[in-house]
Amino acid sequence: MIDTHASSFFRTFLRSPTGVGSVAPSSRALAGAMLDLSELHDGVRLVELGAGTGPVTRALAEAPVRMDWFCLEPNAHLAALCRMAVPEAEVVEAYAQDLPRLIAERGWNEVDRLVSSLPFASWDRPLQEDVVSSLVDVLAPGGRLVTFTYALSPWLPRGRTARDVLREHFTVVETAHLVLWNLPPAFIYRCEQPRK
Ligand SMILES: C[S@@+](CC[C@H](N)C(=O)[O-])C[C@H]1O[C@@H](n2cnc3c(N)ncnc32)[C@H](O)[C@@H]1O
Repeated sequence: MIDTHASSFFRTFLRSPTGVGSVAPSSRALAGAMLDLSELHDGVRLVELGAGTGPVTRALAEAPVRMDWFCLEPNAHLAALCRMAVPEAEVVEAYAQDLPRLIAERGWNEVDRLVSSLPFASWDRPLQEDVVSSLVDVLAPGGRLVTFTYALSPWLPRGRTARDVLREHFTVVETAHLVLWNLPPAFIYRCEQPRK
């Protein structure tokens, strides 16, 4: 099952490299580190962004807390694989830019945690700004965005822009963790105090 998902993920990457942003699903080590940095507790409202085939979704589903949460995955094929891998998760086929509408439709006014695998460093600045503004719109003032980027990204132009855009929209952007056991290795950012 894991191999099937990895090869499906890779084929989806070949069709849309900048849309998917990675050649392989995240490792358990990366998913676990994302979960730890999310510091979840009972009652938290959380959205996972870019669920793919579900490795981070699986870690979230196993978190020993009672939270309100759902996931976004705009690619229908990956969303279907994620639902198979993590049947207890609610996977919505939508983009992060749709979040303000999706949150309002649920009757939520904000979210406490955004756990993102979005491929920011594959995108141009207008798209990065569009997406990060949507996230800031819905994130509670005391909330947190946890997102990762691949280890080389901070040295690439779009990776640098992605970090700049995060810093323009959050007072705190901390490189909280380096996960070597992932293809490729990844830095995790912890972003807090959204500038509204
Ligand atoms: C790097 S992959 C990560 C997938 C999975 N979470 C993992 O860790 O293996 C990025 C995912 O983000 C999704 N994605 C791309 N653009 C998006 C957007 N604007 N909003 C939500 N998800 C998006 C892609 O379809 C892809 O599944």
